[in-house]
Amino acid sequence: MSRRPPVALILAAGRGERMNSSLPKVLHEACGVTLLGHVLETVREAGIKRVSVVVGAGAGQVRSFLRESSGGIARSGNPLRFRRLETVSQTNRLGTAHAVLQAEPRLRHWQGDVLILPGDAPCLRAETVRQFISDHQKSGRVASVLTAEVAAPDGYGRILRRGDEVVGIREERDATEAERKISEVSSGVYLFRAPQLFRQLRKIKKNATKQEYYLTDVMEMFARSGQCVRAHRIDDGREILGVNTRRELALADQILRGQELERHAQNGVTILDPAQTYIAKGVVIGGGTIIHPFTWVERDVRIGQDCEIGPFAKIRSASRIHDRAAIGSFVEVARSEIGEKTCVKHLSYVGDARIGKGVNIGAGTITANFDGRKKNRTVVEDRALVGCDTVLVAPVRVGRGAKTGAGSVVLARQTVPRGETVVGIPAHVVGKKHKGRKR
Ligand code: UD1
Ligand code: MG
Repeated sequence: MSRRPPVALILAAGRGERMNSSLPKVLHEACGVTLLGHVLETVREAGIKRVSVVVGAGAGQVRSFLRESSGGIARSGNPLRFRRLETVSQTNRLGTAHAVLQAEPRLRHWQGDVLILPGDAPCLRAETVRQFISDHQKSGRVASVLTAEVAAPDGYGRILRRGDEVVGIREERDATEAERKISEVSSGVYLFRAPQLFRQLRKIKKNATKQEYYLTDVMEMFARSGQCVRAHRIDDGREILGVNTRRELALADQILRGQELERHAQNGVTILDPAQTYIAKGVVIGGGTIIHPFTWVERDVRIGQDCEIGPFAKIRSASRIHDRAAIGSFVEVARSEIGEKTCVKHLSYVGDARIGKGVNIGAGTITANFDGRKKNRTVVEDRALVGCDTVLVAPVRVGRGAKTGAGSVVLARQTVPRGETVVGIPAHVVGKKHKGRKR
C-alpha cells in the first residue's frame, strides 16, 4: 500500500483547437484565474507537494505563467508553494498517453502513485481529489479513474464496466451507438502506480481514427492483464467539466463563480444578486459586507468587514478595501488601498492610490495616474475631503484633513498641506491660513 502523497502530472500541452484561439487553452481564464491556475490550486490544496506540468503548444507562455505566478492564483499574495514544480516538454503532441510518457525520465525512480489531471478541468474541488487519493490508496489498487454521471456525455470518454470493475474507457468517436448512451464518463483524472503505468504505456498503439496515443487505452490494458481498475464516482458531474470550447469556458466560469459566491455567503457576506455579481476566485471579503448587483471584483482583492460595494463597482487586482468603507456606483478602484470608513460613492476612478481613513472622495473625482509612460501614485491622508470633480494628477498628495474645491485640478508633484483648502485650476490654497481673494 502506498501512503505517500502522489506526484501530480498535469497535461497542458494540447493545442486547444476547439477554442479557436492564439492563447494556449490552459491560459484562458474562468472566474478570474487561468484554467491551469485552478488545477494547480486544487492539487496544492489536496496536499500534493510535487507537480510536473506537460507543456507543448504555447510552451513559452505557459512556462512564464508558471514562473510569474508560482503557478497559482496569480499575485494573490498566496503563491502556490510546492516542494517541486517542474515542466516537461512534449514537442510532438501525439495524444494524452504520449504526453504522460514524456514525464517518464523524471519519474523513473518514483515507486509511488501518479495523479494525472487534464489542465482543462478547472472546477474540480480539492476535497474530491483528497477523497479520490484516499480511496485509491486504501484499496491498494494499481489504477483508478475519477468518474461522474453527466446529463450530456458528448465528447467525454465513456466508462465501460463489468459490475464494479472498469474494463475500458471508450472515446466518443470510437464508441458504438450503445456505448454512446452510457452516461458515466471519465474526468480524465487518474491515479496509477508509477512503474506499472509506464510499463503499460510503452505498449500502447496509435488510435486508428485519430492517429494519437490515448491514455484511456491503458485502462483496458490493465483490465486485460487481470489488474482490477476501479472508478471513483462522484455525484456532482459539473465538477469534472473539461473546457474544450468557448461555451464550456463560460460554463466553467459560471460553476466556479457559484462555488465562490456560496463560500462568501457562508462567511456572512450578503450578495444581493449572485447571477449579476462577478468575484474572482480567492478574493477575501469580511462578514457583514454587502455586495450590490453588477459588481466586478478581480483576483487578489481584499475587502474588509461591513463594507458596502456597488452597484456597478469595479475593483481591480491588488486592491485593499478596509472595514466599513463604501465603494459606490460607477466607481473603479485599481491597485489601491481604501482606508477604514472611507467613502468613494459615485463616478470615480481611483488608481495606484493610498486613501486614508475617514476620507470622503466626492463624485466624479479622478486620479490621473498615467503620464503616458508610467503609473504614478496618489496619496490622500486621513479625514481629507476631496470635492466633486477633482482631478488629482499623480504623483500627488492631499494632506490630512485637507480639502479640495469642486472642479479643482491638483497638479503633479503638488501637495495640499494638512488642513488647508485648495480650489481652481491649477489648485491653489485658499482659506484662513492663506487668505483668498474676496468676491
Ligand atoms: C480527454 C479524454 C476523455 C475524457 C476528457 C475529460 C483522452 C483520449 N480523452 O478528452 O476520455 O473524458 O479528457 O475532460 O485522454 N494534452 C496534452 N498532449 C496531447 C494531447 C492532450 O498535453 O498530445 C492535454 C490537453 O492540453 C488537455 C488534456 O491533455 O489539457 C486533455 O486533452 P483534450 O484534447 O482536452 O482531451 P478531451 O477530448 O477533452
Ligand atoms: Mg478536454
